[in-house]
Amino acid sequence: MPRPPSTEIQKAVDLLRQGEVIGMPTETVYGLAGDVFNESAVQKIFSTKQRPFFDPLIVHVANAEDVHKLVEDVPAAAQVLMKNFWPGPLTLILPKKSSVSDLVTSGLTTVGVRMPNHPVARELIQLFGSPLAAPSANLFGRTSPTTAKHVQDEFKHSVFVLDGGPSEIGLESTVVGFENDTILIYRPGAVTAQMARVALVRAGISFEVLEKESNVAPGHLQHHYMPSIPLIIVKAGADISEVENAARPTLKLSEWRPANLNLHSDPVIAARELYSGLRRCSESGANVIVVEKSQRTENELWFAIWNRLEKAASLSLV
Ligand code: TXA
Ligand code: MG
Repeated sequence: MPRPPSTEIQKAVDLLRQGEVIGMPTETVYGLAGDVFNESAVQKIFSTKQRPFFDPLIVHVANAEDVHKLVEDVPAAAQVLMKNFWPGPLTLILPKKSSVSDLVTSGLTTVGVRMPNHPVARELIQLFGSPLAAPSANLFGRTSPTTAKHVQDEFKHSVFVLDGGPSEIGLESTVVGFENDTILIYRPGAVTAQMARVALVRAGISFEVLEKESNVAPGHLQHHYMPSIPLIIVKAGADISEVENAARPTLKLSEWRPANLNLHSDPVIAARELYSGLRRCSESGANVIVVEKSQRTENELWFAIWNRLEKAASLSLV
């Protein structure tokens, strides 16, 4: 994994201290990071992303001390998940301290917290000495970036980006909330429901784990992660001329120049390559992307991959 020179990391820290936002590599996707306790930096995250204020940010920490700057209380089940999956692709929604502004949480009483497992992100947060708010570094509703170049392209080189190499996981973190004796998976990711269940049972904690989109965070919208040209989901082995006949009127396409998105058969690699694949198709000269819905369900990571593809799609013909 390429490591930016320490002068680059220091430059990023200096910019963050000045209230700027910067591109930060993480193992899931790249983030657009700013000082969570600097209101104007947080404003800048929303304005740079063109993100509506109703969609709350998640906050990145480097150690347990940082967590206590943000949250009132860490329930026992959350402690078990932290111990098992941090640093890593898991965001926990916890009751916030009053020091975390309503702007960060969109007025919710909870805040999303994650400890990323990327050496550059960890070094950056340690050196900065305080937690960083960071949504994925893409324009609102668009495909998340998994390389430094994706971030530079997205913001037309107006944002300083630390290059930590391609994101290893390639999908945004699993987002988990706690309601009574239930753990709700608001957004599926590389930490799966089954992995959470096993960790909780081993710790002797009885908690139900359910997949359920959040109705408290309006950020979980129907359409998200969208490439710059429409994406169509079709049945495996679908006849492409039938797809064309069905899709062209619906999507009002005057031409038909499809690009196929081929998913790798290994879900770990399919996840890692998903967003760069969508970008490659968008930039290929095609005007529509077609992906075949496979029947592969043996691995829960496919669930997260298809969650993203379904939200990214303009049309589903399955
Ligand atoms: O892997 C990731 O999570 C990446 C990297 C950069 O860490 N970040 C990321 O952030 O995907 P973002 O903002 O694109 O997605 C965070 C999701 C949003 O859907 C938001 O609605 C949800 O987390 N969220 C944040 N705070 C929440 C809260 N207090 N309650 C419920 N959902 C929340
Ligand atoms: Mg995002």
